[in-house]
Amino acid sequence: MSREWAFQGLQCTECRTVYPNREIFQKCLKCGGLLDTIINPEILKEISKDDLDHTQSMWRYKVFLPVDEKDKIVTAGEGNTPLRKLNSFQGNVWVKDETKNPTGTFKDRGASLAVTVLSALGVKRLVLSSEGNAGCSFGLYSHIADLGCQVFLPHQSNPAKVELSRKLGATVTLVGGTIADAGRRAEALAKREGSYNASTFVTPYRHDGKGTMALEICEQLAWRVPDYVVYPVGGGVGLVGMWKMFSTLEKIGWVNKRPRFIAVQPDGCAPVVKAYNSKRDDVDEWKDPKTIAFGLRIPKPLAGKWILRCLRESDGIALLVTDEEIRKSMGQALKNEGLLLEPSSAATIAALHHLYGEKMIDRSAEVILIATGSGLKTLEQF
Ligand SMILES: Cc1ncc(COP(=O)(O)O)c(C=O)c1O
Ligand SMILES: [Zn+2]
Repeated sequence: MSREWAFQGLQCTECRTVYPNREIFQKCLKCGGLLDTIINPEILKEISKDDLDHTQSMWRYKVFLPVDEKDKIVTAGEGNTPLRKLNSFQGNVWVKDETKNPTGTFKDRGASLAVTVLSALGVKRLVLSSEGNAGCSFGLYSHIADLGCQVFLPHQSNPAKVELSRKLGATVTLVGGTIADAGRRAEALAKREGSYNASTFVTPYRHDGKGTMALEICEQLAWRVPDYVVYPVGGGVGLVGMWKMFSTLEKIGWVNKRPRFIAVQPDGCAPVVKAYNSKRDDVDEWKDPKTIAFGLRIPKPLAGKWILRCLRESDGIALLVTDEEIRKSMGQALKNEGLLLEPSSAATIAALHHLYGEKMIDRSAEVILIATGSGLKTLEQF
């Protein structure tokens, strides 16, 4: 392709400083704000749907991603996951089945993108904090790209996540406390040894990977946009990434609207739901987080303001579910639909009961649940 490439740099989400695209960045050097990638819609307007890559993975949408045309893609066939109708609900509900990704979760999308960008920029060693799934994903892609990978996990992480991260070649350290404590360890080590911190939003190269779910959903619906997307919010990577991608698609005229987002959190750790429903523009730290949905046990997401902004722009809804409802939904999804979900993921099914039961949405509305992760790594929680 000889046309100009859409990825044109990075921009601070706070002070708006712009950075060039072929250097290694973490957060804003001026104010410490989170960086977003600049994907220029004017350039994307020049391409047509027929120009999309024929690869059967998320890399079909490479032109929408913050990579250079010549970068060597680090891939294991992530993305291109099924979108299927759920029959056990009276309604128009589809599930985006992210459990079909290489390590069983949507985290593979962000890791495939981040490792592609970082290895092309010459990074040799990654450090990150994770509740477990991102550890597996970065373990896999770091192995493929021959990068070192050190993961800090909270000690309560599901044993299969710890084990799989190790089997994939990551060095895993279990840390007392929550993911926030694991995050401090990752930051300290990155500083000490000069390695790259690939933790959620400490790197600007993950959310666009999860954004490819929005592209796939639209294409799978023959470029129709659903009315609602139900998303279990932890660090908010997928919500921010998908909202950005739906917005880009609307700007370039491939679709004619954007969906409303429904953010779901467990009532034992719900900093985003609390802030959104009290009309705040930043999140407070959740004290003493307790939930079986470990992926959502994020007491203070770094991207709090950004998540809230996306939710507001989408005229979104923020909902609480209980652990009990999550547990019930896991059984239901498995037995009625053959969907083996981990608790964080089953939170969307629990939310659907509220959405219909309390008549927050109409049964004719088209709803997509993001089934973020497989229950195979969390069998002990069934
Ligand atoms: C299964 C699962 N669902 C949802 C989430 C939350 O994802 P995000 O950080 O994109 O909000 C996580 C994060 O760890 C997860 O593992
Ligand atoms: Zn800044």
